[in-house]
Amino acid sequence: MTSRHRDDRREQRTAVMVPVQRIGHATYATPDLARQVAYYTEIIGFTAAERGRDRAVLTTRLGHEVLVLEAGAAAQCTRVSFQIAPDFDLNRAIAHFSKQGVRSERRTGITPGIADAVVFADPKGTEIELFSAFDEAAPRGTIHGIAPMKLGHQAFIVPDAKSMTDFYCDNLGFRVSDWMEDFFSFLRCGTDHHTVNFRTGAKTFMHHIAFELQDWAHMHTACETLGIHKVPILWGPLRHGIGHNIAIYHRDPDDHIVEFYTEMDQMKNEALGYFDPRPWHEDRPQRPKVWDRHSGAIVWGTPPAPDYLRSRPAMPAR
Ligand SMILES: [Fe+2]
Repeated sequence: MTSRHRDDRREQRTAVMVPVQRIGHATYATPDLARQVAYYTEIIGFTAAERGRDRAVLTTRLGHEVLVLEAGAAAQCTRVSFQIAPDFDLNRAIAHFSKQGVRSERRTGITPGIADAVVFADPKGTEIELFSAFDEAAPRGTIHGIAPMKLGHQAFIVPDAKSMTDFYCDNLGFRVSDWMEDFFSFLRCGTDHHTVNFRTGAKTFMHHIAFELQDWAHMHTACETLGIHKVPILWGPLRHGIGHNIAIYHRDPDDHIVEFYTEMDQMKNEALGYFDPRPWHEDRPQRPKVWDRHSGAIVWGTPPAPDYLRSRPAMPAR
């Protein structure tokens, strides 16, 4: 393919894609709704803005919807919502997916804060809810639990990280921030280094869900809070190479890996194409690239505990 053809193809993608701007909330089915709600409100510190018999809608202390928990047979991530550009008509999203052969539909009142959405299933079967406007709940006046700032990213194991990455870039406007070799992609849709990650593996499942903390002091609060509640930290604190976020990981009562992070790389200017300079960067400036599995995983910190690696796919052979 000539560079002219590549440019033409890029322009076509830019013209038709649905412009995702940020991640909204994630929806999880759980076999024990009461236990998950108790954990995410009492320890993590979210607020139940709505609590029905089979569903709870949780918000951050700032009043943003962050997690929807629904009664279900198996513990799994079923839906992820993204906010698209406010001036992008939802009907244009339906027209786009129709052209791509992807069935989508309008849904109303998906949460108390989202009146109107376009919903489609991505290639791994997760329902994606796109919305362009939302209402905030009242912010919480007092700090309770860990109280993360927001849902930051969701990582998934998929059969082919490359094809899933292409789908998100071609249809939803994501950009590749980094690859770990050829099996783990990190995609951004705003200034944050990554909002979704895809790792190649034999079985499709949610790899981890990540919530942003304010700073190092907030990370200290998270560690102490998990300690008080006897929740083991399975990896970290550490600084990752890819994204350079400081992170800790634990498992929630449904066995999902939960990450708390802070100091994630920021690309504040897409035209410049590099991440805001930081003292811990290897490259100057730090641009999107392909990392090896060792330098990409850890700048400093210890390897993960066996309980973090449990049920995770092994590193692919080289
Ligand atoms: Fe992460």
